[in-house]
Amino acid sequence: MSPACHGGRRLSLSAATTASVAVAVVLLLLSLRHAAGSRVVLDHGAELRRRDIATGAAAGGACATAVAPFGYACEEHEVTTQDGYILSLQRIPRGRAGAGAAGVAGGGARQPVLLQHGVLVDGMTWLLGSPEESLPYILADRGFDVWIANNRGTRWSRRHVSLDPSSRSYWNWSWDDIVVNDMPAIVDYICSHTGQKPHYVGHSMGTLVALAAFSEGRMVDKLKSAALLSPVAYLSHITTPIGIVLAKAFVGELISNLFGIAEFNPASPQVSNLVRSFCRNPGINCYDLLTSFTGKNYCLNNSAVDVFLKYEPQPTSTKTLVHLAQTVRDGVLTKYDYVRPDVNVAKYGQADPPAYNMSAIPAWFPLFLSSGGRDSLSDPADVGLLLDDLRGHAGDRLAVQYLQQFAHADFVIGVCAKDYVYNDVISFFHRFR
Ligand SMILES: *[C@@H]1O[C@H](CO)[C@@H](O)[C@H](O)[C@H]1NC(C)=O
Ligand SMILES: *[C@@H]1O[C@H](CO)[C@@H](O)[C@H](O)[C@H]1NC(C)=O
Ligand SMILES: *[C@@H]1O[C@H](CO)[C@@H](O)[C@H](O)[C@H]1NC(C)=O
Repeated sequence: MSPACHGGRRLSLSAATTASVAVAVVLLLLSLRHAAGSRVVLDHGAELRRRDIATGAAAGGACATAVAPFGYACEEHEVTTQDGYILSLQRIPRGRAGAGAAGVAGGGARQPVLLQHGVLVDGMTWLLGSPEESLPYILADRGFDVWIANNRGTRWSRRHVSLDPSSRSYWNWSWDDIVVNDMPAIVDYICSHTGQKPHYVGHSMGTLVALAAFSEGRMVDKLKSAALLSPVAYLSHITTPIGIVLAKAFVGELISNLFGIAEFNPASPQVSNLVRSFCRNPGINCYDLLTSFTGKNYCLNNSAVDVFLKYEPQPTSTKTLVHLAQTVRDGVLTKYDYVRPDVNVAKYGQADPPAYNMSAIPAWFPLFLSSGGRDSLSDPADVGLLLDDLRGHAGDRLAVQYLQQFAHADFVIGVCAKDYVYNDVISFFHRFR
């Protein structure tokens, strides 16, 4: 491994997140499909997706599906985590011919950037718009070496050295395990391949796992900086009707009872039935769930939304959704709560799951935060709590952007995200090369 890649201590961790976000996103995604259900093309997409999942990566991967048609070089990579999950990574090593040829360092090596998606989607979520609008292509054309992660259990990351995705054991993890196992494996792999520490871009749960890791001193010595879009650390201010219903229903436990330790596949009949039952609640308009979950997005392209529905949502573990639900309900970010004190003691050495302390994020680590005034998942009040925790952060290492008119999906598939967000992210990365 390159000397650049040697990090410091490795701490062990289990994590906690906000349940409502995950559940809300599930419902959002489902509702999108529901609302679009009359469109044959989407049903066809869902059918294709199920078939692709059944055949593993046989469909050729995200490179062949999404990137190659635009004329970019793209490589498929594979990373095996310490606990045996085989994850796929896509690399766009350079821009289109001529673009960014000089590299950001004026002829020096291209700097790697890792993109980490949120819950219930996969790396495809970054690749749905045109090269002029989508972050991976923009970064590649501006001289970066782009790496796209795909969480365990999603379409192109459904393999394990010994476990089969149809087994319960394969799904026996929460997002704590992404923090402990997947992130370090991916970052080490990129660093040893490129000889450089990557920058990080996360969206939604991709920010949660990063913040949890940083708060325990993980990854901060292995990344140059991190840009967190729609940052999620607190989920106590979800005010949409659906959020309130979910909180009342303790939907995490409900889901747990329905599915046990298992895959949570939004395409399954059980999940469709669950969504239908939520849609019967007064005040919930399932034909406008995109808005009620994400907030009113500012610059979505309808055709990008259609492409989105062709590839998403993607499965996750039920345990991850329960973990998120615990966060919403409890108002604090902790590791997964096994509920039974004896099990928590066995796991953590204490009866309650340990909290993640956002104030413990090293003050020198460069952080770029971008949040939206209309984002009902990463609510401005919850972002405010996070910023409060970060008030001791070094002033020149913390950039905070607030976009009054942005909601949750704008940060990834908004056609105007380049002008409002990505250009500033790139400037920030240039400061910490
Ligand atoms: C899940 O993992 C825990 C240990 O973390 C173990 O006790 C339990 O038996 C596992 N359950 C399944 C279904 O694999
Ligand atoms: C929306 O997407 C379509 C298809 O990619 C594209 O032709 C169109 O220009 C986009 N519209 C905007 C406003 O970007
Ligand atoms: C969180 O971390 C900060 C900074 O290290 C520390 O001062 C504070 O006591 C911690 N809070 C808790 C509840 O552990």
